[in-house]
Amino acid sequence: MDFFNEELGLKIPGHVAVILDGNGRWAKQRKMPRTYGHKVGSQVVEDMLNIVDDLGVKYFTVYAFSTENWKRSQEEVSTLMGILRWYLKDCVKKSMKNNVRCRVIGRKEELSPDIVQSIENLEEKTKNNTGLNFTIAINYGGRDEITRAVKKIAADVKAGKINPDDITEQTITDNLDTRELPDPDLLIRTSGEQRLSNYLPWQLAYTEFYFTDTYWPDFNKEELIKAFEKYNKRERRFGGVKEDAK
Ligand code: IPE
Ligand code: IPE
Ligand code: MG
Repeated sequence: MDFFNEELGLKIPGHVAVILDGNGRWAKQRKMPRTYGHKVGSQVVEDMLNIVDDLGVKYFTVYAFSTENWKRSQEEVSTLMGILRWYLKDCVKKSMKNNVRCRVIGRKEELSPDIVQSIENLEEKTKNNTGLNFTIAINYGGRDEITRAVKKIAADVKAGKINPDDITEQTITDNLDTRELPDPDLLIRTSGEQRLSNYLPWQLAYTEFYFTDTYWPDFNKEELIKAFEKYNKRERRFGGVKEDAK
């Protein structure tokens, strides 16, 4: 659901999903190790949280680590896990202060037990917060999420809880990690890549896409407003026909 920001004169998308990309290239450009880009990138996520909240976004969902990112060097993976470990802990205090409700989507299996515990703690502590809904995708892959949903539904069929004829799109939606979230209205991908990289394929079916060449560590409020301005020019038809074209 969009929200109209009077001050900016812009419709603000209710759910903004982000593929934060370009941390490594940003660091390389500065002759720094890729991991430095991730550190700066995590700070930008934190800054963006306050910015989106102030502008009137209700749901903000970021892609932090994909099911494919394990292919990177051990050093990079362990730095990323270290950042997430620290971030998940730090997020509790800040979210309580700012009334932010946090969720984590993705596959828990490969994550280290202390990270899983931090995720549970963050979700539990912030579950009654009524402000911004902040979701972090960690070890997330859309195909993995759908596969897990299918397994769960198949088990429900086997247990006699559901009849195959009664399976609808809603059944699948309800079995995804994102079951409590509305579909994103706007997807932003930074760094010039124009692909989904396994991010929310089911949920993005009717989402507006915005791509920018800016690397994530350089993304800021002005860039976000630019994305919202583009979003305001889009006409969402959802397969229908524009009113005045009927
Ligand atoms: C995005 O930046 C962050 C993660 C995938 C964790 P990248 O690390 O993909 O940076 P580039 O795309 O290599 O520049
Ligand atoms: C997608 O970015 C994953 C995250 C942002 C966490 P990648 O950098 O991993 O994607 P590809 O490899 O360019 O498709
Ligand atoms: Mg990348």
